Amino acid sequence: MALSEVNSAVRFFLGRGLLDCLPLHLRTATIDDESRLLKWRNDPQDREASFSTEPVEAAEHREWLWQALADPGQLFLIIEVGHSEGGRDACGMVRLRGITGPTIEISLGVAREYRRHGLGGRILHMATLVAFSLDGAQHVLAAVKPDNEASLKMFKRAGYREVGRNGQAVYVRIDREAK
Ligand SMILES: CC(C)(COP(=O)(O)OP(=O)(O)OC[C@H]1O[C@@H](n2cnc3c(N)ncnc32)[C@H](O)[C@@H]1OP(=O)(O)O)[C@@H](O)C(=O)NCCC(=O)NCCS
Repeated sequence: MALSEVNSAVRFFLGRGLLDCLPLHLRTATIDDESRLLKWRNDPQDREASFSTEPVEAAEHREWLWQALADPGQLFLIIEVGHSEGGRDACGMVRLRGITGPTIEISLGVAREYRRHGLGGRILHMATLVAFSLDGAQHVLAAVKPDNEASLKMFKRAGYREVGRNGQAVYVRIDREAK
């Protein structure tokens, strides 16, 4: 039984999900994450949240992933939830771009079966701390589609504030001194 299914059963009986108390682990993404990242990228809600909504083909995705992994200005992280190494499950991803400059751009996603359990908020908190631990980092910025209610709530709750918007995106940012 997958961890997400165990969580639903525990939540049903206890009113509190197992996921609320399981630790999260960050690791760097590798090419072995290709199929899970492609699955997440082509999830309808992820496509909806993305600025290019077309489904991505496997070959195109592979090329994109190789480039992302080779980019020295980018930190690409996979988030795992669970205790033991064998019992952990990949539940989301974070990308930090522009990591050698003062403004780091963040984007993240939670796997469909793990959404709405507070993981997005916890992952964002951890990833923001990672970003500010990098030399010279002063701001962390995200571009969110205006109708992405879950994402906007998540960033706001984590202390990000709106710094601009246009027809395509709401820009939210947190500054080093606010942490
Ligand atoms: C946005 C996303 C990361 C949130 O992950 P999550 O684990 O579901 O987030 P949380 O459970 O921590 O919820 C964050 C907030 O959004 C709310 N929320 C979650 N899903 C929601 C939905 N579908 N509609 C409205 N609100 C929602 C939660 O209630 C919570 O608000 P609260 O703190 O006021 O209670 C996830 O929905 C996702 O991966 N979406 C697709 C990719 C994406 O949008 N990425 C962000 C762009 S950078």
